[in-house]
Amino acid sequence: MSVSELKYPKNRLRRTRQAKWIRNLTQESMLSSNDLVWPVFVCEGNNIKDEIQSMPNVYRYSIDNLNEVYDIASEHKINLIAIFPFTPQELKTKYGDEALNPDNLVCRSLEKLKSHKSDFGIMCDVALDPYTDHGHDGLLSDEGKILNDETNGVLVKQSILLAEHGADIIAPSDMMDGRIGKIRDELEKNKFVDTLILSYAAKYSSSMYAPFRDAVGSSKNLKTDKKTYQMNILNSDEAIREASMDIAEGADMIMVKPGISYLDIIYRIKNELKYPTFAYQVSGEYSLIKFGSQQDIINEETMVIEQLSSFKRAGADAIITYYAPEVSKFLKLID
Ligand code: PBG
Repeated sequence: MSVSELKYPKNRLRRTRQAKWIRNLTQESMLSSNDLVWPVFVCEGNNIKDEIQSMPNVYRYSIDNLNEVYDIASEHKINLIAIFPFTPQELKTKYGDEALNPDNLVCRSLEKLKSHKSDFGIMCDVALDPYTDHGHDGLLSDEGKILNDETNGVLVKQSILLAEHGADIIAPSDMMDGRIGKIRDELEKNKFVDTLILSYAAKYSSSMYAPFRDAVGSSKNLKTDKKTYQMNILNSDEAIREASMDIAEGADMIMVKPGISYLDIIYRIKNELKYPTFAYQVSGEYSLIKFGSQQDIINEETMVIEQLSSFKRAGADAIITYYAPEVSKFLKLID
C-alpha cells in the first residue's frame, strides 16, 4: 500500500482522532519524565538561591542549598542532572586554571550531591568557558586563535578530575577535534571504565545560548563569536561526520544542540547512526517560552509539551531542559 493509493472516503484519517482513547492507542511517540535531564547552576556563598534574570524560575544555588536540588530531582523522578558553575570573575584566567582545581565549584557540588544515595546520575560539562577570562571554550593564542590540541590536553585533565569526584557522565561541550578519543583513553587508563561520555557532537554556533552565558557569567567576557569551533548553522552532513567520529572515538551518547531549530539533525543522527541521541532545549528556547507566556502571548504548558514532544517525534531519546521539574506537572496534558 503506498500513500498515493489512499482515498477518501475509504480512508478518513479523522477516524483515529475522534476520541481520546483511540488517539492514545494510535500515538506514535511517548514523552515521559523518564526522558528528562535537568541543568542546574551552582555558585559560591551560603544559603543562596538567586534567580537568573534572563531565565525566570531558574536559579543559581550555593552548595549548601543543593539539598533542595536533590529533593526536587527525587520528587520529580529526574534521571540525570547537569551541573554548571558560576565561577567568580576573579578566578577566571587566560588558561582557565580553575577548571583543574580539585576544590572548584563543580567538584564540591559533586561531593555534596554524591554524599547522599540517589537514584539520579550527575553529568558535568567539559569545556573551559566558565573558567576563562575571555569566555571561550578553549585556549586562546595571543593572535586570537583557539588552540585545538593544547585545549585537548586540558580537557583530558578536567575529565579525569570530574570522574574522580564521581561524575557519572562526562559531557564535552567544547567542539575541539579529537577530544573524545583522548578523554576515553585516559578514562580507561585510570580505570574509569564505567564513566559515560555524552558528546555535544553537533553543537551549532547559535544565538540561542545568550541567557546561559549570563547564567555562568561569560557573556561580558566574550568578545568574539565561537564560529571557528561550533558548527555552521547551515550544515547538516557535517553533523553526521561530527557524530560518527565521536562515536568511533568512544562516545556513548550524542547530543544535538540547540533543539527546536535542529530537529532535522536529531532525526538524521538517530536514523543514520542509531545511537542514543540527546537534544538540548537551550537557554534561549527556555526564556522565549517563559517570557512569551508571562506576556500572555502563548500558553506555557501546551507550548512546552508541544516542543518536547517534537524532540521525541524527531527521534531524541532524552531531552535536556530547564523545564524538567515543571514538566511533570504539565505531562497530565498528554495523559
Ligand atoms: C559551553 C556551553 C554552552 C551551553 C552549554 N555548555 C554555551 C556556549 O557554548 O556558549 C549552552 C546551554 C544553553 O544555552 O542552555 N561550553
